[in-house]
Amino acid sequence: VKDDLLDLEFPDGRSCAVLVDRDLGAGLDRVWRPEWQEIAIIGDATVMALHGATLAGHLQGRCRRMRQLDFPAGEAHKVRATKQLLEDQLLAEGFGRQTCVIALGGGITMDLAGFVAATYLRGVPHINVPTSLLAQIDAAIGGKTGVNTERGKNLIGAVHQPVAVLICSDLLETLPADQWLNGLAELVKHAMIADATLFAWLEAHVEELSRQETALLGHPLRRSAEIKGQLVLQDELEHGVRSLLNFGHTVGHAVEHATGHAVPHGRAVALGMLVEGLIARSTCGFPDADLQRLQRLLELLGIELDLPGCAFDSLVPYMARDKKVRDDAIRMALPLRIGAMAKDGDSHTVPVAEEALRRAWEEMEARP
Ligand SMILES: NC(=O)c1ccc[n+]([C@@H]2O[C@H](COP(=O)([O-])OP(=O)(O)OC[C@H]3O[C@@H](n4cnc5c(N)ncnc54)[C@H](O)[C@@H]3O)[C@@H](O)[C@H]2O)c1
Ligand SMILES: [Zn+2]
Repeated sequence: VKDDLLDLEFPDGRSCAVLVDRDLGAGLDRVWRPEWQEIAIIGDATVMALHGATLAGHLQGRCRRMRQLDFPAGEAHKVRATKQLLEDQLLAEGFGRQTCVIALGGGITMDLAGFVAATYLRGVPHINVPTSLLAQIDAAIGGKTGVNTERGKNLIGAVHQPVAVLICSDLLETLPADQWLNGLAELVKHAMIADATLFAWLEAHVEELSRQETALLGHPLRRSAEIKGQLVLQDELEHGVRSLLNFGHTVGHAVEHATGHAVPHGRAVALGMLVEGLIARSTCGFPDADLQRLQRLLELLGIELDLPGCAFDSLVPYMARDKKVRDDAIRMALPLRIGAMAKDGDSHTVPVAEEALRRAWEEMEARP
């Protein structure tokens, strides 16, 4: 069906085809270009073992040659050294101008393989085939690529749009349950930012979603891709409206850092959305009824919402040095109501006083 294909067309002529299709082979048929003759499939070893052969099977006969390159799973391997190893393998095998990189995996693979594609021979095309829910909802779309350094996450990288993103929910059948929850949190975030109808759909399907039923994901995956795709098209380099995607992440990132990443990303973002929702209630008129619905949805999805034992003061340094900081105030993307975000003049972030933040955190701590 035509509706499953979303074409992101950037003003300078670049385009990215985002396709939601449970049939990977059919999806490849629709986006494939004959100039992609040298295929490098890059993925972490876990995902490659599970899905590499299936993808390779679909590519058989489409290209002159194909190679699968893997690296060990985990954030510790999303680093320059891994990028260099992958590049050296491609160079050693003489991969040339007709190279197309296919990133097969979770967000780590999207970031790492996308960054390889961004600089290999000064840039070759890449296709994202996300296999985690987080990557299907979030990381595969938008063109941000990069690696971590000892000084922090994602500090070295490039914006390099994929030529295509193939979103196939059947690949999620093998996804571990904790990874599933990470993706659900980002899905709730997209509904909060832009689509009250999607939020209601999530409420109506909360049981199936909490049971990790992948078959019904077509609708939310499509809506989610449209929401993120639109924001990226309007503001590829995050000077403005794209910063709405940081809802829940200012506090969420601080919680992750302050706990030494003991709290998984989805839970941190869920907590972040609730704390930022409390702030929005006191500063932007975000209705209490909407805050209650948000909390209930997150709970019913099975996301653990107890605060980790970290003191408010340990969070502040991480928020103050956050990228959203401007003019000394901590700036945040805050909801106006479910499906709509607040504005501050022309800005899509709102300044928040440290005191308001502290009160919200204490109110979270005091909850039953
Ligand atoms: N570029 C962006 O816009 C963007 C957005 C959000 C997150 N990110 C990045 O994404 C990363 C997190 O992504 P993630 O949570 O997908 O992490 P990930 O890539 O590590 O995947 C999570 C784990 O699940 C496994 N896995 C993935 N798919 C599987 C499947 N189908 N079956 C079985 N196991 C599977 C992986 O091997 C890994 O162990 C972070 O590094 C973050 O910075 C980037
Ligand atoms: Zn996130």
